[in-house]
Amino acid sequence: MKNSIKPAITLSLAAAVAGIFAAAPVAAQSQAPIKVGFMLPATGTYANLGNMIENGFKMYVNEQGGKLGGREIQYFKVDDESDPAKATDNVNKLIKRDQVDVVVGTVHSGVALAMAKVARETKTLLIVPNAGADVITGAMCAPNIFRTSFTNWQPAYAMGKVAADRGHKKIMTITWNYAAGNESVKGFQEGFEKAGGKVTESLTLPFPNVEYQALLTQIASQKPDAVYAFFAGGGAVKFVKDYVAAGLNKTIPLYGPGFLTDGTLEAQGEAAQGMITTLHYADNLNTPRDNAFRLNFAKAYKANADVYAVQGYDAAQLLATGLKSVNGDFSKRDQMLKAMGSATIDSPRGKFTLSPAHNPIQDIYLREVKGINNEVKGVAIKALADPARGCKQS
Ligand code: PHB
Repeated sequence: MKNSIKPAITLSLAAAVAGIFAAAPVAAQSQAPIKVGFMLPATGTYANLGNMIENGFKMYVNEQGGKLGGREIQYFKVDDESDPAKATDNVNKLIKRDQVDVVVGTVHSGVALAMAKVARETKTLLIVPNAGADVITGAMCAPNIFRTSFTNWQPAYAMGKVAADRGHKKIMTITWNYAAGNESVKGFQEGFEKAGGKVTESLTLPFPNVEYQALLTQIASQKPDAVYAFFAGGGAVKFVKDYVAAGLNKTIPLYGPGFLTDGTLEAQGEAAQGMITTLHYADNLNTPRDNAFRLNFAKAYKANADVYAVQGYDAAQLLATGLKSVNGDFSKRDQMLKAMGSATIDSPRGKFTLSPAHNPIQDIYLREVKGINNEVKGVAIKALADPARGCKQS
C-alpha cells in the first residue's frame, strides 16, 4: 500500500512543482522589460542629433509612466560614430550581445543601410528615427522595418518645386558624397527639372569634411541663380556661416532641406536669417499637440525641440501602438507589426500614417528662418508619399 501511494504523491508533487516552474517563465516574460537598443551617434558632426532623438523617445515613454503596452522599457546604447564601416559590428552588439527586442537608429544613411541589412537577416524589429536612405523603405522594405522620419527624396523633391516656383532656372548643388547627400540632390533635381529648372553642376566633398572654401570659390565663379545644399548638424552650422562669410548669399540665394537650419540656429545666428527650407516639421506650427510637446520637451531637457526630437518621440509612439495592440505580448509578432503598419501617429508635426513600405506620408512645410525659429510659411506639398521604388510590400 505504502509503496503504491508514495509514487503517486511524489508524482503529483513533481507535477505541481513542474507546473510552478512551467508557469514561471510566462509570468516573468509578461513582466520582463522590453529591451530597446539605441544605435545613435554620440560623437562627431551628428552627435547632437542623436541626443535629441534619444531624448524625444524617452520623453514619450516617461509620459506613459515608463511603460508601453504594460511593459517596462529597458535601454541599451551603442555610439555608432556615424561610421558605416563599424555599423554591422555595432548593431550586432545590440542584437546578439544585449539581445534587444527592438533597435532604434540611426541618423546617418550609410550606417542605417548596414543596420537594415542585419535587421532583414535576423528579422529584428528596426525603427529608423532619422536616416533618410531611400532604399530602406524602397527595395529593402520589410515587414519588420519602419521609419518615423522621412526619405531623403521627400523634403528634397518638395524644395525642387519651391525653387522653380520662385523663378530660378539654373541651380548648382553641393553636399557630402554619401547616400543622404546624393539622394537629396537627386530628389531636388527631379522636382526642379520636372518644373522646368536645370541643375547645372553638382559639387561634393567627403563626409564629414567641412573644408568648403574651394567649392564656394567654384560657386562664386559660376554664378548660378541659386544653390541647393544638403548638410546637417555641425557641418550645416559651418556651411551656412562660410557661405555668408564668402558674401555669396547677397546674390545667390541658398536653399536646402530643413536639416540645413534645424537644431542649428543658435549656432548659425545672423548667417541663417531669412533662409527658406522645406521639411516635415517647423518651429511654430502652433497646434495644441505641438505646443504641449514643445513645452514638455523644454521643461525636461532645457532645450528647444527640433525635428530630431520629434522623430524620436514618434518612434516611441509607433512602438507603443504595436505593444498596445498585443497587450505587451511581444511574441504576437505578426499582429504587432500589422498594428504598427496601419497606425495613425499623433505626431507633433501633425498626424501621419505609414505607406505600405512603412515610411511616413506627410506634409512638407515651407519654412523661413526668423531668429532661432524655422517659421512655417505654408505647406509646400501636402501628404507627400515617397515613391518607394523597388518595394514589393503592399
Ligand atoms: C542621413 O544621413 O540620412 C541624414 C543625416 C542627417 C540629417 C538628415 C539625413 O539631418
